[in-house]
Parts: sequence; C-alpha cells; structure tokens
Amino acid sequence: MKSFQLANESSPLSLTPNFILPEHKRPNLSEVTYLDSIPIIDLSYYDENNTSSLEVVHKISKACEEFGFFQIVNHGVPEQVCNKMMKAITSLFELPSEEREHLSSTDHTKNVRLISYYLKVEGGEEVKMWSECFSHSWYPIHDIIHLLPEKIGTQYREAFTEYAKEIGSLVRRLLSLISIGLGLEEDFLLKKVGEQPRQRAQANFYPPCPDPELTLGLQEHTDFNALTVLLQSQVSGLQVNKDGKWISIPCILNAFVINLADQIEVLSNGRYKSVVHRAVTNNVHPRVSMAMFYGPNPNTTIGPIQELIDEEHPIKYKNYRFSEFVEEFYKPERTRKMVIENFKLENK
Ligand code: OGA
Ligand code: NI
Repeated sequence: MKSFQLANESSPLSLTPNFILPEHKRPNLSEVTYLDSIPIIDLSYYDENNTSSLEVVHKISKACEEFGFFQIVNHGVPEQVCNKMMKAITSLFELPSEEREHLSSTDHTKNVRLISYYLKVEGGEEVKMWSECFSHSWYPIHDIIHLLPEKIGTQYREAFTEYAKEIGSLVRRLLSLISIGLGLEEDFLLKKVGEQPRQRAQANFYPPCPDPELTLGLQEHTDFNALTVLLQSQVSGLQVNKDGKWISIPCILNAFVINLADQIEVLSNGRYKSVVHRAVTNNVHPRVSMAMFYGPNPNTTIGPIQELIDEEHPIKYKNYRFSEFVEEFYKPERTRKMVIENFKLENK
C-alpha cells in the first residue's frame, strides 16, 4: 500500500513539489470562461402526458449534442436527502486522516477505497492531484459499512442508502429521456445497459489549496461509464471543455450536474459527446462533490446503435464488451490518451 498523504496536511502555506504541475499542464485560471455555461433544464415540466415533456426531451438532446453536460433543477430528489449525503461526506473527510487512511489503496479491483489521483507527466514523474476521493459501489452498501471509520459509519450508510435509491430512479428517468431524444424506444438505453449495471459512487474532497494556479483538483478526463450524476457543494470548481475553452460550471442550489460518459458517446455513434472536464481548486473554501457513475453491466456489448448508423452517419466505433473498456482504462501504461480513442474505427 502506498503511504497516504493528505492534500491539506497541516495546511501548508505553499505547495510541496509533488503537487506542482509542469507549466503546460497548469489550469490557466485567467482564461476560464464564466459568462455562458451549460444549459439548465427544469424537469418539473416533464410529464408523460404533456407536450412540454417533448420540449424537455429536445432541450436535453440539444445539451447532449452541444455540451455533453447540463444541469437539472426540480428533479424531484428531496433536498434533505442531498444535504444528508453531503454532510456524511464532509464528516468523513473532516476526520483526522489517520482514521480513514486504512481505506487508501491503489488496487482498482477493491470495492471500497480512498484514492489519491495523480497525473503522469513527461519522464514518468507522478504529480499528485489536490483531492481525496472515496470510491465504492452503490450496493449492497451494508458490505462496506464495517470498513468505514466507526464514528461516521452509520451516518454514511443511512445517507447513502436513501441517496442511492433516489439517484437510481433519476438515472432511469434520464436514460428514457435520452433514449427518446435519440429517436429510440423509451426503454432502449436502460435495457442496453443490462441487468446489474456497473454502479459506482465517488465522493470527492478538495481542501483549500495554497496556490490554485499550480495544481488541479482532478486532472482533465472523460468519465468512462454511461451517465454521471454529480452533486456539488456551493463552491465552484468543475470546468468543462468546449471547443478548446474551459467553461466554469456555476453552483446552483438543489441542482445536479449531468454528464454523458464514454459509453453513451459510443452507443449514439458520436452524436452525443462525452466531454473532457476537470476540477480546479481555490484557496478559501473546502469543496465536496458526489459523483454517481452509472455504467453498463461488464458483459454488455457496446457499440453504435444500428438505428443511428446510416450513409450520413457512418459507423465510428468498434463493438466491444464493456469489461474490455474498463480493462483498458486501468492499464498502468495509459497516459494522456483518452481510452475511447482505442475503440474508434480507423479514418472516421
Ligand atoms: C468525477 C468528476 C468533478 C467534481 O468525479 O469524475 O469529474 O466537480 N468530478 O468533483
Ligand atoms: Ni468526471
């Protein structure tokens, strides 16, 4: 096991060298756009017997094509369920690091683990990200409780059980809206994902950072699952890349940030984009987020959906088993290249 070092250990006034990115990898915060952002979609207009639901479908579809990201409000998930989840995560990360250190592991096959991400830079050097991430499966949550620090075990279990149930139904609803937007049967994507989808949760903690220009909270990446639901505290930090420019995602009370991940990009034959995003740090407020990753069953075959391939839209990706994609993702030699590139067909 790697010795665990916390980003905010003893609140340093300056960054230790292992957190400092080489110049060309730094976030360039002065160039980030705060003016326009990803669409905000009100789900309360969605009602199956109502024409305004078509408008919601259309808005989601447009957001998926243009940004790969959108925020949703009036989504029906009770505010107190979200607040409880955020409190439980905060309690976990507020414990002295010794009390959760035992969860730290670099073994990605572990169901429950505390991760410190790092970026491999030229020369094989590893630069640490300014964050701590707690990753585990959605269920059965009972299996992980005995691993958690005793002081917060029950609180976390109760909060997560409720939260996961709500997010599960929200994801199913979103997948049907996205299916309709693609011109498919309402249950197409849900069925495609298969029985026993790969569902993972990742609670992210970004302590205040002495120099946000020199480091990142999370390096740029795409999510490799199908759809991600992110809940963030009222501190901004998430940025998405649009046409080469970084756009900051504002914090909206009681909203979720939704993003399409690699598997929906492939299934939609590239019509919907899995967009590169990152998290930056700030030097004042700690930031907490909860990412719920919903992905296919590992045995599901993923590839462009037949109905979405025609002369105008020639097939762009290979067919593969989702487990092959996951395997590729965790290959230690993988560096800058996005995994999805390996599954693109030549010359497309
Ligand atoms: C992630 C992610 C962004 C954030 O966990 O994959 O992109 O704002 N998180 O924490
Ligand atoms: Ni992500």
